[in-house]
Amino acid sequence: MVVAKKWIYAKPFEGLPKDENFRLEEETLPEPGENEFVAEAVFLSVDPYMRPYMASYPAGTVMIGGQVAKVTASRHPQFPVGATVFGNFGWRTHTLVNPEQGAADSRPYVLPPFGAHPASLGLGVLGMPGNTAYFGFLELCQPKQGETVVVSGAAGAVGSLVGQIAKIKGCRVVGIAGSDDKCGWLRELGFDATINYRQVERDAFADALRAAAPGGVDCYFDNVGGYISEAVLGQMNLYGRISVCGTISNYNAERAQVADPQRLFVFKQLRQEGFIVTRWAKRWMEGIRQNLQWIEEGRLRYQETVTDGFEQMPAAFVSMLTGGNTGKAVVKV
Ligand SMILES: NC(=O)c1ccc[n+]([C@@H]2O[C@H](COP(=O)([O-])OP(=O)(O)OC[C@H]3O[C@@H](n4cnc5c(N)ncnc54)[C@H](OP(=O)(O)O)[C@@H]3O)[C@@H](O)[C@H]2O)c1
Repeated sequence: MVVAKKWIYAKPFEGLPKDENFRLEEETLPEPGENEFVAEAVFLSVDPYMRPYMASYPAGTVMIGGQVAKVTASRHPQFPVGATVFGNFGWRTHTLVNPEQGAADSRPYVLPPFGAHPASLGLGVLGMPGNTAYFGFLELCQPKQGETVVVSGAAGAVGSLVGQIAKIKGCRVVGIAGSDDKCGWLRELGFDATINYRQVERDAFADALRAAAPGGVDCYFDNVGGYISEAVLGQMNLYGRISVCGTISNYNAERAQVADPQRLFVFKQLRQEGFIVTRWAKRWMEGIRQNLQWIEEGRLRYQETVTDGFEQMPAAFVSMLTGGNTGKAVVKV
């Protein structure tokens, strides 16, 4: 008998998540039936999308999310005991899984070998955030050598990779992040210029950006939305490309920071395209293999902010939402 712990979405979020939004429960799992297996979480992910996505789930649902887990019992030939898997099993220590159930683009998979690198990378650079950077930037921004790329949320899981991939492609890269330490790390990674947006008054942000990107902006990878993005849009060059990845500045806010930046798209003939990373589900392993190769070649570096203990899931989640992480935020069980 396996007893699973699970975090329940106890009460709808209002503003920044609080303790009252979460409840820890236990559940005894049945033995796996045919084509089922039991997964024991090793690392769990906390991601920004959990904040807006949970709004479409009723209270009482298990918190959604990905994890890297070990198969501990199995009646499924492709998920043998001992395999390390990625699965969207939610905030649970143990899960009874039927891998054929659920949406086709978010089914569990056995992690490919990561060499000497930790399995937690399956939640970051060698998983969803890595593929978000790889596909979301290269496919939508189509960067060309010598162009200027601006990345917001630059020191996070996705942004830190986007900037490095832009450098690999020969671009000049400006990163926007929320602390001097984060900006220092970005410059170590090869970013050409950084802006600590928390040190710049909102009214002065456009000037700070102009100083960091005097030739204007050709590609913008947008993780945050709000006034930061409004300022970047104002400094886009003709035929600039914008990959709209996320709008975290609005996730916990009652009202959006800015209204109607769309007119700039008309006058500057910009192309902005939203995306969900699973658009590239059929090319998933290509992204993981390429990012792994760049790591092995020393061209892609990563950082993780690891919180210890499944009981700390809500705290790690809130810390990530408020900038407590550098690189990928993960929780170690
Ligand atoms: N479209 C997709 O398929 C897809 C996939 C993955 C992620 N995303 C999106 O990509 C973005 C980054 O995700 P991630 O996993 O890499 O998270 P992350 O950047 O590792 O963590 C979130 C970061 O957001 C920053 N932040 C919080 N509030 C902010 C605000 N008001 N203004 C500006 N920055 C703020 C914080 O860093 P600072 O200290 O710099 O403020 C925090 O560390 C999110 O918007 C997420 O929803 C989209």
